[in-house]
Amino acid sequence: MPEADHEGKTYYTDVPQQGKLFFLKGSNELDWGMKNRLSRIFNPGDGRTVMLAIDHGYFQGPTSGLERIDVSIMPLVPEADVLMCTRGILRTVVPPSVTIPVVMRASGGPSILKELSDEEIAMAMEDCIRLGVCATAIQVFIGGEFESRSVVNMTRLVDAGLRYGIPTLAVTAVGKELVRNAQYFRLATRMCAELGAQYVKTYYVEEGFETVTASCPVPIVIAGGKKQPELDALKMAWNAIDQGAAGVDMGRNIFQSDSPMGMMKAIKAIVHGNETPEKAYDLYQTIKNKGN
Ligand code: R5P
Repeated sequence: MPEADHEGKTYYTDVPQQGKLFFLKGSNELDWGMKNRLSRIFNPGDGRTVMLAIDHGYFQGPTSGLERIDVSIMPLVPEADVLMCTRGILRTVVPPSVTIPVVMRASGGPSILKELSDEEIAMAMEDCIRLGVCATAIQVFIGGEFESRSVVNMTRLVDAGLRYGIPTLAVTAVGKELVRNAQYFRLATRMCAELGAQYVKTYYVEEGFETVTASCPVPIVIAGGKKQPELDALKMAWNAIDQGAAGVDMGRNIFQSDSPMGMMKAIKAIVHGNETPEKAYDLYQTIKNKGN
């Protein structure tokens, strides 16, 4: 018999093999690779994430705060749990030695000069694999002019992702003409989850956000939206987490702040440290006053 095979206590014949439920809502039946990638995006300790979103250039060019990602954004990256960006920025600006997971913007087409819902899948799954991404992200325009196409595009990306174990983040886009309320976001997030997205990004709404998170069977992260005063953005993040969000995917309220590092750390303190908005704001002020 081979030397490694000895009878004895090390077989623990009286201990049944344990199976654990996966920590993320709605994700228990996913395959190992997908769960492993989601475990890099969401902290398995608290089930939450702070994603730094810097993909805005894919339809609006050098957005204020993102003119020089190498100079202004790269110092923030080690503070984030996840970087959400385009493949162009990843290949040109982000050093391959970066170890935080990347969520890849995989849709595109129209610029801000045209109808935004006219998007297509803008990246092959093969390239996502080549770049080692942990998830792809695609805009879904519920109620938009090209609603059906954007929904079907999402399902195609989901199918490709399922083939290779790469989760899909469905981003519920809001058009100028659409009312941003809980009823709308319940519809949009639920549709994305029902059609296969492994997690969904949406916006926070003051009234009834907890019904959006409750009725969506997969984790929800919130976008930051337009730049607000820092304390207001921190309150929004706190409320979203309190009402069931699994984290933030935040851009402008971090990189357009007068202290991006201060906001980055303050948001983290809320999401992972359960800090109050006021305490997190103090942290932001302290970091800002040190000139960071
Ligand atoms: C849209 O441009 C992208 O999906 C952004 O990643 C998303 O809107 C989050 O960025 P912000 O916090 O600036 O809204």
